[in-house]
Amino acid sequence: MKVLLTGANGFVGSHILDRLRQDGMAVVLLLRPSSDTRFIVSHLDAVEVVRGDLANPGALAPVMAGVTHVIHCAGATKALHEEGLFAANRDGTTGLIHLVNEHADHIERVVHISSLAAGRSGRAEQPAHEDDSPEPLSAYGESKRAAEEVVCRHCRVDHMILRPAAVYGPRDREFLPLFAAAAKGWAPVFGGGRQELSLVFAPDLAAAVHAALTRSFSGGWIVNAAAAEVVTSRQLVLEVGKAAGRRGRLLPMPWAALRLVCGIQAGWARLVRRPTVLAHRKYRELSAPGWVADTTRLRSLLGDVCPTRLADGLERTWQWYREAGWL
Ligand SMILES: NC(=O)c1ccc[n+]([C@@H]2O[C@H](COP(=O)([O-])OP(=O)(O)OC[C@H]3O[C@@H](n4cnc5c(N)ncnc54)[C@H](OP(=O)(O)O)[C@@H]3O)[C@@H](O)[C@H]2O)c1
Repeated sequence: MKVLLTGANGFVGSHILDRLRQDGMAVVLLLRPSSDTRFIVSHLDAVEVVRGDLANPGALAPVMAGVTHVIHCAGATKALHEEGLFAANRDGTTGLIHLVNEHADHIERVVHISSLAAGRSGRAEQPAHEDDSPEPLSAYGESKRAAEEVVCRHCRVDHMILRPAAVYGPRDREFLPLFAAAAKGWAPVFGGGRQELSLVFAPDLAAAVHAALTRSFSGGWIVNAAAAEVVTSRQLVLEVGKAAGRRGRLLPMPWAALRLVCGIQAGWARLVRRPTVLAHRKYRELSAPGWVADTTRLRSLLGDVCPTRLADGLERTWQWYREAGWL
């Protein structure tokens, strides 16, 4: 077994690499010349590295002969313009899947990391099921859905598309501001804190990816990846406060404030030419009533791979931020 992993130096990808290397799997990484490898430096002597870009997957051709499994985790969560999201997520996937098809005689399986945002929003009483009609609410979600379509329509190898809920854990920068606010003893809660959320702890997601490589299945599947626990955004903020050892005060904010922040961030990002997650259209996704995933299929196909309780995962994340000097 030899696994090609894209996006290995990123937040999610680095946890996947940790999990693969725990079993001593042979791994080839696609890294860009500019990729920051600080999270994976301990693995670099034990893996093969190809320097290239998803925009030019031909760089991988020389190593493809021995590859038996592909994990496509690389993707853009932010870009200066919406086209940048489609270029990385849809077009990057297209090039990779073409390459996989050229080697379909020896590649047994593809695991593609998508997102819950590619499907539809869901609430606890009606969680998003993989077979529901997709209704992405942001350009990011649309670009991830477009990538899924590429895999579903064109991939000639058995494949599993994993749709993670919001991922948190060591090395993550998106939840960091929430932890930083909690550490100061207060935290903003938008829209009354009633938004309902599924989440997944990064090492659990890596375990799900590992199971998707090794468990028996055939054909093509879309599978939500999240813990079974569902929380409101208010509960999440309070749990983060507990992990930080503070009885945080909630700072209620109207959704209009988030909309304003998204607008300002988007304008500022263009000005300084630094991509931001908080783009204009992201507001619709962020303010949806819920992002709750139905995890029945995950458990039936891959087992109990996301068992970490939110309180434990947040506590481990907090510890990591402290030890790494991020907080
Ligand atoms: N974080 C979440 O909450 C979450 C939730 C659901 C799904 N996901 C999905 O999980 C995946 C990883 O996300 P993340 O949060 O780990 O983001 P991240 O830390 O920004 O990692 C993204 C990775 O993709 C690579 N990449 C981007 N564009 C590339 C290109 N054109 N060619 C080659 N590599 C490229 C990046 O390489 P460089 O370092 O060189 O830029 C990096 O390794 C994405 O597909 C994302 O959609 C994430």
